[in-house]
Amino acid sequence: MRVAIVGATGAVGHELMQVLEQSQQRGSLKIDELQLYASPRSAGKTLPFGGQDLTVQVTPEGPIDADIVLASAGGSVSLALAHQWASEGAIVIDNSSAFRYDADVPLVVPEVNGPEALKHKGIIANPNCTTAIAVVAVAPIHRKYGVKRMIVSTYQATSGAGQKGMDELLTETHKVLHGQQASHQEFVHPIPFNVIPHIDAFQDNGYTKEEMKVAWETHKILGDDSIKVSCTAVRIPTLRTHSEAITLELEHPATPDEIRELLGSAPGVEVRDNPGGKLYPMPLTASGKYDVEVGRIRQSLVFDGGIDLFVAGDQLLKGAALNAVQIAEYLQEHGAIKQKAGV
Ligand code: A2P
Repeated sequence: MRVAIVGATGAVGHELMQVLEQSQQRGSLKIDELQLYASPRSAGKTLPFGGQDLTVQVTPEGPIDADIVLASAGGSVSLALAHQWASEGAIVIDNSSAFRYDADVPLVVPEVNGPEALKHKGIIANPNCTTAIAVVAVAPIHRKYGVKRMIVSTYQATSGAGQKGMDELLTETHKVLHGQQASHQEFVHPIPFNVIPHIDAFQDNGYTKEEMKVAWETHKILGDDSIKVSCTAVRIPTLRTHSEAITLELEHPATPDEIRELLGSAPGVEVRDNPGGKLYPMPLTASGKYDVEVGRIRQSLVFDGGIDLFVAGDQLLKGAALNAVQIAEYLQEHGAIKQKAGV
């Protein structure tokens, strides 16, 4: 199987290479060839994979000779090229928001709605990072107890804005610590020692697009438009894990112990919930981890029989690269990758 990464030099691209290498070592994905693509700025650069140095090439405007394309170079690149790659026979797993709401593009978190991936017509969308992390914890609860309303407040890391976002956090924090004024490019305001309740563009209803993505994508992934979702999305000065406080109103009441037990055997979840022992989800412990940490599970004081919880998931992993690779693994496990002859 030939795999191409478009956007290989970016933050998600870097994680894709690590996760692919680990998948290959575990024997999950069998990769015969890995191709790396980025902008002309990176052409000729080499990146290590499987003991070899692979050369980064300029993203082709025409066909890509690969069976799977992991696209992570932003929405405009995907919009311009993904359909063409797909028409040449590749399956495109797209990390941008370009196609997520298209009716014929599955939006997939394998633990939650893996079979949807098998219905693809050439493009499969990887969800928004905040949504992917939330639904890993919320989907099992929805299936057993029925989620009626979901209220989410997020604490999102700078990695959501790519490598440049993380670089800006470090360089601007350094400036402030040395008595200089912080500036900003990737974020709407300076990020050091700040929290910014503004991610993506404001919509007519007063919510940001990032906040609406959580509502739209939760509906699509869970296959249930009846869930009422309200999100407040906030950027905070951490490097790479998104945390979320989630309140759920449930159709059938649940106790915290029942939710702990349910999530204890849910795929992709690590229950980390012992407040007395100071054990709960945090970016410090969730970063670099495949599982989404879930804790602070308690009875809601607002909704009878409802549940409050706190989750932390690595934005670059479950929120991006890991989920994309898991989609590829799911396709391969189900014999859904047809290797095409070289062009
Ligand atoms: P490059 O490093 O050459 O700019 P991030 O989200 O971390 O900023 O990463 C974005 C990724 O997308 C990088 O690999 C970047 O390559 C790549 N990229 C950005 N613009 C283009 C483009 N027009 N064509 C192809 N790749 C692009």
